[in-house]
Amino acid sequence: MTTVLITGANRGIGLALARQYATDRADVIGCCREPARADALKDLAAASEGRVRVMQLDVSNEASIASLERALSYQPIDILINNAGIVGPEAQSADSIDVEGWMTTLRVNALAPILIAQALRDNLRRGFEKKLVAISSDAGSTSIDSYGGSALGRNRYAYRASKAALNNGMRGLARDWANDGVLVRILNPGFVQTDMTGARATGSTASISPEDSARGIIRRIAELAPDTSGSFLDCLGQVVPW
Ligand SMILES: NC(=O)c1ccc[n+]([C@@H]2O[C@H](COP(=O)([O-])OP(=O)(O)OC[C@H]3O[C@@H](n4cnc5c(N)ncnc54)[C@H](OP(=O)(O)O)[C@@H]3O)[C@@H](O)[C@H]2O)c1
Repeated sequence: MTTVLITGANRGIGLALARQYATDRADVIGCCREPARADALKDLAAASEGRVRVMQLDVSNEASIASLERALSYQPIDILINNAGIVGPEAQSADSIDVEGWMTTLRVNALAPILIAQALRDNLRRGFEKKLVAISSDAGSTSIDSYGGSALGRNRYAYRASKAALNNGMRGLARDWANDGVLVRILNPGFVQTDMTGARATGSTASISPEDSARGIIRRIAELAPDTSGSFLDCLGQVVPW
């Protein structure tokens, strides 16, 4: 039985991943920062005959990560998906930077996935598949200037920096943990209809449903093998430039 841990599993892409893995009869550890308010995830757990567990995790809080590590000691994890993320503050352009907001964006999107991977390294080692996944973004590609094609996309300096840092950290783990058999995949989920892209707002141009994105992500994770560890792909399997 495959065990998958997903951060930010209460809504958006994370919830769609939890639902599809549960349908595929995997054991799912769905992490979210406020379980009391995670109704959709709790409904999934209630209908899962014990295969979906909801666990508290605020990825920006080291004590919360340590508490998850303690709760999961000796539990093998086959696939660890660092999905939780934020778009960052209003002010993150060439003209104006919200300093605290920038630091929080880096903490959630770039630092937390590394801290969580380190905290759960032994769990991954005990897993059969040993797959470490980061839901990144083509916004983290330094060579793609036209990201988002809009002022909104171009102005996301903190978000773009955080995803570039995430990619760099994951490349490092792909190299440094290869001897443990850990495989790393960095994925761009596409422009997905979630709260992050204002999917419920009129005029949102996000074109991919969370379900379709999750299906692609799960395929790309299933294909991951030692010769492609550390690569950056979109959910259709195309290589994304650094
Ligand atoms: N949607 C897109 O088009 C798109 C494109 C490229 C990349 N991505 C990436 O895909 C991932 C998922 O995004 P999404 O579109 O599904 O966004 P979303 O609907 O806004 O969901 C974000 C998730 O992250 C969680 N989260 C944020 N901060 C957290 C924290 N400190 N601790 C724990 N959980 C936290 C949220 O939990 P709460 O409910 O508690 O806030 C929520 O579950 C992100 O990493 C994002 O950067 C998305």
